[in-house]
Amino acid sequence: MIDLQIQDKTHDEARQGEALILDAPVKADARKLYIESYGCAMNFADSEIVASILSETGFETTGDYHQADVIFINTCSIRENAETRVRNRLSQFGAEKRRNPKLIVGVLGCMAERLKSKFLEEERLVDVVVGPDAYRDLPNLIEQVESGHKAVNVLLSREETYADISPVRLNSNGITAFISITRGCNNMCSFCVVPFTRGRERSRDAHSIVAEARALFEAGYREVTLLGQNVDSYTWTPGALTNPSGERGNAELPNQPNGQVSPTGGDLEGALAGVVNFANLLEMVALVSPELRVRFSTSHPKDITDEVLHTIAKYDNICNYIHLPVQSGNTRVLELMNRTYTREWYINRIDAIRNIIPGCAISTDIIAGFCTETEEEHQETLSMMDYVQYDFAYNFTYSERPGTLAARKLEDDIPEEVKKRRLAEILAKQQAHSLMRLQEWVGKTVRVLIEGTSKKSDKDYCGRGDSGAMAIFPAVDNVKPGEYANVYIERCTSATLIGRIV
Ligand code: SAH
Ligand code: SF4
Ligand code: F3S
Repeated sequence: MIDLQIQDKTHDEARQGEALILDAPVKADARKLYIESYGCAMNFADSEIVASILSETGFETTGDYHQADVIFINTCSIRENAETRVRNRLSQFGAEKRRNPKLIVGVLGCMAERLKSKFLEEERLVDVVVGPDAYRDLPNLIEQVESGHKAVNVLLSREETYADISPVRLNSNGITAFISITRGCNNMCSFCVVPFTRGRERSRDAHSIVAEARALFEAGYREVTLLGQNVDSYTWTPGALTNPSGERGNAELPNQPNGQVSPTGGDLEGALAGVVNFANLLEMVALVSPELRVRFSTSHPKDITDEVLHTIAKYDNICNYIHLPVQSGNTRVLELMNRTYTREWYINRIDAIRNIIPGCAISTDIIAGFCTETEEEHQETLSMMDYVQYDFAYNFTYSERPGTLAARKLEDDIPEEVKKRRLAEILAKQQAHSLMRLQEWVGKTVRVLIEGTSKKSDKDYCGRGDSGAMAIFPAVDNVKPGEYANVYIERCTSATLIGRIV
């Protein structure tokens, strides 16, 4: 595993399960909510929605669960070990509940949606089970528990985007924030639980996204990350509540053949008169201010258009970094995974990125040992890595998830030790590529957004360049966190760029 410090915050292992708190004065009479999140950035963004909904009914966040009236654990189901981690954590909360019988313990998120009321049978201490589309109901559900009943709401919605809820920012550095732009997923990759736990894909009102970005900028934030399981399928029609067609996003949109594209011509109102696609949305958010950096995740190889790439190239404040998960380098395996692209298609998208956005950082997710994967097919994943030379990668062994297409139709037939050995080969290759990519920055000057002081020393600042790579450099008096600095990179470790402000 490469050091996680350099990895983009949307996948930050270090944040798993950390208590999420709002840095605000404490009111003596407020009820206390302890909330921790697992899984992807969308879950972290949802925890901010939850805290916002509960703050309306007098709850404040606390970082100490011994002080809490309500403990919420926002869960992930993506791999079996994600669920095991949550079960272990719940047993710790069980001890607390025996000490304080009035304590309410709630399970939110993807595991809640997957297991529904079964959770209440399996984990006796749990009082409330709430799926990702039912958070508006939380105040009622808490009341129900207070009147002596267990409470469950796992209804999925085709409309809910929480567009009107302005999330409170938990554990915020006041500089970088997430903005959800779509919820759910329609893709049905055969290994994946997300379509079952998050429901149908829907796109959020573009006005509300731009307004949120603008409000963040005005509050001093300097970087937003637009979040969706497949940001490229974002599509919103003014006047429509949600994404009307839903099915395959903008896969049919023709790619733009040249660099002359200006999706909205810089005209927000113009863009809002028609259908807003992801390229349009990116441009609208980029136009909030040249000083507001824009990131996004996750791009889907089948849907990422040249129009999106041209938009990234056109705006300096849209980061030159694309997370484009390949999953496998072999076409037969990709077909079994129902990814709906081939090895050649993926390579074509990489070539388009390299042509349109020279120097763009690219990262990936890879699954080792998917059902029936042969040694030769695994080699094709390794050769894909050699072709792209990813800046970062998030790599996993295949974990069969109940109810998915793969669990129903395919045999999980690769022995665990073979999966682990293939994963180790992938990790070793990635480590070499990550180091090589970082070394490319040495001797260059990188424009860094300063996020704060470094974890190791308060005499150093840390911040990311465009590519997402973390740089550490001595703090100076006249430049503050939240400001940009040009940092000359003198050297690097396997995970961090080291330099000085010039
Ligand atoms: N929407 C994103 C992925 C979200 S899940 C996309 O389509 O790329 C994050 C990653 O978890 C996936 O990219 C995949 O690599 C991994 N993953 C998902 N299900 C998995 C499973 N059953 N076993 C192992 N890894 C899995
Ligand atoms: Fe899962 Fe595929 Fe949707 Fe990503 S695109 S969330 S991997 S179903
Ligand atoms: Fe996990 Fe749900 Fe995200 S399964 S990865 S928390 S969408």
